[in-house]
Amino acid sequence: MMIDICDSYEEMSRKATDIVVENLRQHRDLMLCAATGGTPTRMYELLADEYTDSPDLFSGLNVIKLDEWGGIPMNHAGTCESYLQQYVIYPLTVSSKRYISFQSDPENPKEECLRVQSLLNNRVIDICILGIGINGHIAFNEPADFLHTGCHVAELSEKSLQHPMVSSEEEKPKYGLTLGMRDILNSKLIILLINGIKKKEITKALLSEEITTRLPASFLWLHPNVICLIDKDAVDTA
Ligand code: PGA
Repeated sequence: MMIDICDSYEEMSRKATDIVVENLRQHRDLMLCAATGGTPTRMYELLADEYTDSPDLFSGLNVIKLDEWGGIPMNHAGTCESYLQQYVIYPLTVSSKRYISFQSDPENPKEECLRVQSLLNNRVIDICILGIGINGHIAFNEPADFLHTGCHVAELSEKSLQHPMVSSEEEKPKYGLTLGMRDILNSKLIILLINGIKKKEITKALLSEEITTRLPASFLWLHPNVICLIDKDAVDTA
């Protein structure tokens, strides 16, 4: 894992944007796996600025949604779908043919995971954008005795349910739909973004390089091509 400590959230976001743009220049129809949440927002805004300057660069971009809150309607303000539509799909004009997405309210959540898995099995994720939960999760691979390889229905931890995307909503998600650890670790390049004081404790644990299912992000140490951009507020300098 290549660790790069950045002076600010802006610098972290700019560096991530530059990496994605550079890869797009080499490979226009690349598959980007997109996390949601507060961390990648500025990066997506910067990508939208790039789109304004060079829309052709994005004309073949494919996107797969990393995870989704389950049991709430797709158009609910807190879904990953609403977020991605606002920050990625609409601003970068990603057509439905180039977008793979979990439904948030499927009749059968397990079948929905199998559907996304079958779409993913024929593809390679070129760049996977990840954030980290305050509990160490990546996507909805939550800390547990064991982790899952593929797309699955996840039991959400208390900490995940406190996430700002859904914490103030009356209608709470009942479960998560998520790519599994193998799906993430099969990505050619992973960009892990970490920012903010609230991530200090988990960043310290991650940087200890101890691999444990209690900190799913620690498995990223096993991947040969991870760039971890951390803003300095999330780093314990004590
Ligand atoms: P955040 O969420 O980017 O809003 O901090 C990350 C996560 O919980 O996975």
